[in-house]
Amino acid sequence: MILSEPDFHHTPVLLKEVVEALGIQSGGRYIDCTVGEGGHSEAILRASSPGGQLLGIDADPDAIRAAEKRLQAYEGSYLLVNDNFSTLERIASEYNFKPVHGVLFDLGLSSLQLEAKGRGFSFRHDEPLDMRFGPGQGITAEQIVNTYSQDKLASIFREYGEERRGRQIARRIVESRPIRTSLELAKAVEKAVGGVRGRIHPATKVFMSLRIAVNQELANLEEVLPQALRLLGYEGRLVIISYHSLEDRIIKAFIKRESQDCICPPKTPVCICGHKATLRPITKKAIFPSESERLANPRSRSARMRVAEHV
Ligand SMILES: C[S@@+](CC[C@H](N)C(=O)[O-])C[C@H]1O[C@@H](n2cnc3c(N)ncnc32)[C@H](O)[C@@H]1O
Repeated sequence: MILSEPDFHHTPVLLKEVVEALGIQSGGRYIDCTVGEGGHSEAILRASSPGGQLLGIDADPDAIRAAEKRLQAYEGSYLLVNDNFSTLERIASEYNFKPVHGVLFDLGLSSLQLEAKGRGFSFRHDEPLDMRFGPGQGITAEQIVNTYSQDKLASIFREYGEERRGRQIARRIVESRPIRTSLELAKAVEKAVGGVRGRIHPATKVFMSLRIAVNQELANLEEVLPQALRLLGYEGRLVIISYHSLEDRIIKAFIKRESQDCICPPKTPVCICGHKATLRPITKKAIFPSESERLANPRSRSARMRVAEHV
């Protein structure tokens, strides 16, 4: 049985653009490092058939289960692995899945995770503060909120959440400890900033920044990009959708660096680094969702996609 779109929580972002950017060919091999509910994976399998193969990775076992349902029609053409993409090269080697024609990242959180009760990603319900993509791995948001120093919390909120009131919020959180649930945290933030004003709840940025810290999202991204590049065959495509300016900064800098022959410091008279360009940006600027996509799927608003080709 093939499930229809309304059976899923997550609407894949920039779907047509991703398929185009990956330059999908029949019989091609692709890795979807953030398989989620399998929306992009399904489109990749469809476009690469007959003979296409897909390795899908997700840290979240619930995502793997959801993707499994969605991809049933392509049984035998895909492999789903519940793991963190930070060890992408090891995973690809283990399954002998290299070189590949394309690697996709659609970073961050899926609507499935946001809407699932009990994960602590949202403050719509009172839930334990967990926020780990992979349950059982690493520290939880509750541990961070209750054990980190006020300064460290403030810098997480300022840096990852671009929250100007980071200090104020961190002070209130430390005074309100212990904080065990998502609603307790949201209330502490409300008190810190003097209530809820405007359309966006003041805890939104705090929740996002804690999620980034819990899952070490920026460190994982830094770690995986060179691995993805090493897995690409000739003219293989690297396609990355990000939702946060800090992620985009890392991706942009990586593509720039790997597209240059020499990365010696400026004014070095003769090249001593021996670095060779292995990437070519396909578009100079990031690709953004169309107006109609942004209206239809508000979650796509902050998305931007960068594409590069192995040379
Ligand atoms: C935006 S969703 C992907 C949605 C998917 N493209 C779709 O069409 O359904 C991001 C997914 O990446 C996963 N993820 C984030 N960081 C990860 C990591 N370091 N390793 C593995 N999976 C990760 C999350 O668990 C989540 O399911």
